[in-house]
Amino acid sequence: MAGASSPAAITCRAAVAWAPGRALVMEEVEVASPEAMEIRVRVVSTSICRSDVTQWQSTAQPDLFPRIFGHEASGVVESVGEGVTEFKVGDHVLTVFIGECMSCKHCVSGKSNMCQKLGLERKGVMHSDQRTRFSIRGKPVYHYCAVSSFSEYTVVHSGCAVKVSPTVPMDRICLLSCGVSAGLGAAWKVADISEGSTVVIFGLGTVGLSVAQGAKLRGASIIIGVDTNPEKQAKGKAFGITDFINPENLNEPVQQVVKRLTNGGADYSFECVGDTGVVSTALQSCSDGWGLTVTLGVPKAKPEVSAHYALLLSGRTLKGSLFGGWKPKSDLPLLVDKYANKEIQVDGLVTHDMPFSDINKAFELMLENRCLRCVVHMPQ
Ligand SMILES: NC(=O)c1ccc[n+]([C@@H]2O[C@H](COP(=O)([O-])OP(=O)(O)OC[C@H]3O[C@@H](n4cnc5c(N)ncnc54)[C@H](O)[C@@H]3O)[C@@H](O)[C@H]2O)c1
Ligand SMILES: [Zn+2]
Ligand SMILES: [Zn+2]
Repeated sequence: MAGASSPAAITCRAAVAWAPGRALVMEEVEVASPEAMEIRVRVVSTSICRSDVTQWQSTAQPDLFPRIFGHEASGVVESVGEGVTEFKVGDHVLTVFIGECMSCKHCVSGKSNMCQKLGLERKGVMHSDQRTRFSIRGKPVYHYCAVSSFSEYTVVHSGCAVKVSPTVPMDRICLLSCGVSAGLGAAWKVADISEGSTVVIFGLGTVGLSVAQGAKLRGASIIIGVDTNPEKQAKGKAFGITDFINPENLNEPVQQVVKRLTNGGADYSFECVGDTGVVSTALQSCSDGWGLTVTLGVPKAKPEVSAHYALLLSGRTLKGSLFGGWKPKSDLPLLVDKYANKEIQVDGLVTHDMPFSDINKAFELMLENRCLRCVVHMPQ
């Protein structure tokens, strides 16, 4: 239990998923006070990431409903639990779906952002005590990625939040809390794209377009965007793609076209769809000898990847990454600074702004593939 001076529980509105794929329902939820090393955050803006939609649709964890999704968010610290010195009430923060404890093997390694203590939470509870901080009439409501930002207030571990300057617009930097950072990090940190190289990106959503932006800023010579949605061509150009391929308009495999355009295969390929079949295609599209495929997508079905082993014997590498390999506390402030200095674009990825009460419309737009990011504005 938190100390005697700890704040009381709050009752607020949250968009609750009662069953997989069922429209979210605005409910009054009780948000407990933050436990030791946790903070309670008043959410200001939250955008909808494809991963929210994929998990909401998934029937793999039926026991984790009712559940509050949302993980791409900005907010203001409302109260702090025992032992928290890094944050004070009123601080502006971004939430993060993989935390940084700063002390585990991974956090001190310099090689990985897979924190052993605050890594991706899959059981719908808080890392520290495996319990929820949300309830409705005394019954637990499960979390998502230990963030759950589709609520006016949420509780996160202090290791899963990053302090940001109060001068940057909260309703845009929320995209840096997941999708944009994941894409930029895949290009810069994981692939470490070099100048003049050739790149192919499968899937031009927020994640893929952010890879494109990262590739362009690194001076890639050819950046091919592949998407089944023809509307992504124009947006792709705005984010740096030099060539667009719609695989549905081809009468040959897409990897053959990529190989032609890149003289034998791209130096780097990225899977930003969430389809393990596309992972194999991405691997086939990169060059033998040194081609690197970075896979970012979260598959809706069939989690196994299949590839002819000769693709690997001939020197290709397949690598995955979460949150672009960034360590949130160490690296995210630099990305926020880049946004503030207009070195990276984020605003062009926001296609819709809407009030919290319209959150189901944002889900519909995602389901119909008619948006990039919808930013949901919490009532203030
Ligand atoms: N690894 C991470 O840290 C991380 C972070 C955020 C999102 N993700 C995942 O990355 C993926 C992309 O996220 P997003 O928010 O950009 O999603 P999105 O749905 O906005 O974009 C996906 C794009 O892929 C296109 N597409 C669908 N099928 C295709 C196919 N067969 N070939 C080519 N293009 C196809 C769609 O038209 C769409 O433009 C999702 O799987 C998401 O869950 C991963
Ligand atoms: Zn996400
Ligand atoms: Zn750690």
